[in-house]
Amino acid sequence: MEISSCLQGGYHKPLSRQWQNQGKSLQKSMFMYPIFITDDPDASVEIKSLPNQRRWGINRLQEFLAPLVEKGLKSVILFGVPLNMKKDYRGSAADDINTPVILAIKKLKQLFPELYIACDVCLCEYTDHGHCGLLREDGSIYSHESAQRVGEVALAYAQAGADCVAPSDMMDGRILQMKRKLIDNGFGNRVLVMAYSAKFSTNLYGPFREAAGSAPSFGDRKCYQLPPNARGLARRAVQRDLNEGADIVMVKPSLPYLDVISDTAQIASDYPVACYVVSGEFAMLHAGAKAGIYDLKSIAFETHESFLRAGANIFLSYFTPEFLDWL
Ligand code: PBG
Ligand code: ZN
Repeated sequence: MEISSCLQGGYHKPLSRQWQNQGKSLQKSMFMYPIFITDDPDASVEIKSLPNQRRWGINRLQEFLAPLVEKGLKSVILFGVPLNMKKDYRGSAADDINTPVILAIKKLKQLFPELYIACDVCLCEYTDHGHCGLLREDGSIYSHESAQRVGEVALAYAQAGADCVAPSDMMDGRILQMKRKLIDNGFGNRVLVMAYSAKFSTNLYGPFREAAGSAPSFGDRKCYQLPPNARGLARRAVQRDLNEGADIVMVKPSLPYLDVISDTAQIASDYPVACYVVSGEFAMLHAGAKAGIYDLKSIAFETHESFLRAGANIFLSYFTPEFLDWL
């Protein structure tokens, strides 16, 4: 055997295996926990399709999050789930002063001043048609008006105290609108913009749409979410969002898009890179464990380490509570 063929000595022991990670190991601070806030203040309701996840009312946030903060939870991303509010064509409930997300930001800042609060910014949970932007009569998207509206909503969340706004709507030009509004209103140096830049139209959002009640009432999202085959478009979207002022860029979903994470880490080499391990991925990993195909903890480490290896250093993951125990 050639001397250079002998690799196994380099990973014979647990410690030497650890050394092969090229300086990258999973840290609690890399995990951002997606949580669903609904408009019944006392709600704690199981979401059937999303194992161990619930819709929470603001009166229940203390009992839900205090134990996690105690274990080292550093950040959350909030999703509003209005069940009783009136939905309309422009998603007015998204930035209503009594919308669950705005109430939750204020509550969480009181309860956990150190917790980093990101807010998903989109209209689909709040529009009567369930699409992420504003529609013309023929059902097509009003790009510019949508981007402006999404910018308005982001500003409202910043004014309520959010640390980060994360537009998931995918309207062209939204990062520019949002960043402009934040700067013009004095939030430019206080609120970070995390762009869902390479967000694909995938089979893997199903459980989320059930959780958030945000399935479109007609059609689909193929004209504003990227086609799965589109590596070039994803690269262009990342570059575009950086040019428009994004502070963090995100890839979503994660497992089928490791090449895109890697491209993004290369294009945005001076920025943090996030990936969203979406509801369908989470449900799929759980289902496999339940079927006896693998051990849940072991597959959770393997998958999240693959995101890290590909170049992400922030994970929006429903596995966050487990990792707070495991790490
Ligand atoms: C809506 C939104 C979606 C997700 C985050 N924000 C669903 C969609 O675009 O249809 C998916 C998250 C998940 O599946 O966990 N703008
Ligand atoms: Zn949306």
